[in-house]
Amino acid sequence: MCGIVGYTGRREAPPILLEGLQRLVYRGYDSAGLAVSSNGTLAIRKMAGPVEDLSQDILQTPLRGVAGIGHTRWATHGAPTTLNAHPHTDCSGRIALVHNGIIENADRLRAELSASGHTFRTDTDTEVLAHLIEDAPGECLEDRVRAVIGRVKGSYGIAVVGTAEPGKIVAVRQGSPVLLGLSEGGTFVASDAAAVRSHTDEVVYLLDGDLAVITADGYQIRRGNGTIPLRRPTRVAWSADAVELAGFERYMLKEIFEQPDAIRRTIASWSARNESEDALAQCNLTPLECRTFERIQIVACGTSWHAGLIGRYILEEMTGIPVQVEYASEYRYKCQLPLPGTLTLAISQSGETADTLEALRRAQSEGSHVLGIVNTVGSTIARESDGVMYLAAGPEIGVASTKAFTSQLVALLLLGLTFGEARGALAPPRARELEGELRKLPELVRRSLEVDREIKELAKIVSNPRGFLYLGRGVSFPVALEGALKLKEVSYLHAEGYPAAEMKHGPIALVDDDTPVVFVAPRDGLYRKVLANIQEVKARGGRIIAICAEEDEEEMELARLADHRVHVPCPSDPLLTPVTTVVPLQLLAYHVAMLRGCNVDRPRNLAKSVTVE
Ligand code: G6P
Repeated sequence: MCGIVGYTGRREAPPILLEGLQRLVYRGYDSAGLAVSSNGTLAIRKMAGPVEDLSQDILQTPLRGVAGIGHTRWATHGAPTTLNAHPHTDCSGRIALVHNGIIENADRLRAELSASGHTFRTDTDTEVLAHLIEDAPGECLEDRVRAVIGRVKGSYGIAVVGTAEPGKIVAVRQGSPVLLGLSEGGTFVASDAAAVRSHTDEVVYLLDGDLAVITADGYQIRRGNGTIPLRRPTRVAWSADAVELAGFERYMLKEIFEQPDAIRRTIASWSARNESEDALAQCNLTPLECRTFERIQIVACGTSWHAGLIGRYILEEMTGIPVQVEYASEYRYKCQLPLPGTLTLAISQSGETADTLEALRRAQSEGSHVLGIVNTVGSTIARESDGVMYLAAGPEIGVASTKAFTSQLVALLLLGLTFGEARGALAPPRARELEGELRKLPELVRRSLEVDREIKELAKIVSNPRGFLYLGRGVSFPVALEGALKLKEVSYLHAEGYPAAEMKHGPIALVDDDTPVVFVAPRDGLYRKVLANIQEVKARGGRIIAICAEEDEEEMELARLADHRVHVPCPSDPLLTPVTTVVPLQLLAYHVAMLRGCNVDRPRNLAKSVTVE
């Protein structure tokens, strides 16, 4: 949600912190700030608006110091104003801290602190932490922070600096991700590896309940009253270039174009395990366990939930196991029966989405084996799952998820194949055929990207309508949902995704010549039914955009009905078609948003990683 970065070392901290904040802006970007320790004082600079404004300000009036903390905010408590931007300080200005998460008992603590004479200057929940530390007993900053933790409820990751110990940063993780970066030139703290990757590839992930004391020479982790042995650092697998634009105008476009490679890597990392038993071992499952599951449930949010919806079609057909798909935020509170014989799939790009994490914990507490399908290595969902299947999509920076989505689909196909074979639900020839189709996907997606120019032209015609309808049937219905979500996220146009036949029960009332209707219509068993639905929209004067198979270029009926046809190469097995049919929808959202002057990589009100409930 919010992004945190801290540095203490032998170099000037402000440029390092500002660069880190630039890498973290996808987590939140309504305001930003820094606190730097220098000569026994804390210099604080913060402002509403993008990190670039803060950088400009610091360029004009430089800050100096070799230790400091920074923050980029996605507002929860209090409007996105300069006053509410982090870092926050105590009454004396001797403590400054940045925070990601929510302090649930902030109102009560604030009332108590105000009654005992503390002056609050902001509307944030975070400020209570600074005042609590101000009053806390203890010789050193870490003791005072430790004393406060017991009084605070909620989920948080924090980094704290104080004037009394200028080269020291204290960080705590309780529910929100925090990692340390280790290097010769100093030590870092951050909410994700992107913030520190240009300085180091060695990171140590904090666990819930860890308190880390960071100095220029390294770190210590305390749990309870003791210090624990140093943890072995994890190596970040991707290079610093992976978070550069590499010549693209936006991260979203770059990531759309990275899909062939992301898919290729995801297939390769699974196939490297070759035998299905090895692949299952990675999921911490035995072939016997795999054969005995009676049910699969999928929990996820946002785009990952759409991948889960497609996963239902894939897994039911390939494995014969009934699948249900739940919004993680709903699942975590619903009345739930015990889950013997249930495999839970927790799908998450970031591996940090609070609702998905809680759904995972709930499923585990009810006896389910949880398999995480996660992009971010070392993330909380990956660590807490009983087994993990990593995507190899590389870091995704654009807030609207694209390459992670298609990689998730590929992961679900690989899982379906492995389970289907292990359970005998897929006959060997069919399994080989599917595998062959899967291996063709990177090339098919590469060719699908060739529609980019055509979509850019199409976007000019449809960039200012009243709204969009996205329709599809069967496995293409969730693709329609994803197309609508992409457009809403980045262009702020209203769009609705619906099952194509179901639209007669309501959304068809929206059809007019100012509401483009996008049909996802690959050549599958439902194709002729979809044509009938297209007729229904045509009869009401709708403008039809059809996403159809390359092979359908000669399809006369569709040519007659559709105002625009976008052809993509479609795999011959319908279960795989979402991987290519979604590509033009991603591009359409991107180009419409660009024409409307929207900030596609940082859409208003959104954040890449939602670590609050
Ligand atoms: C946020 C992002 C979406 C993402 C969703 C789930 O809303 O903006 O792009 O799909 O969270 O995130 P996850 O990391 O769990 O896949």
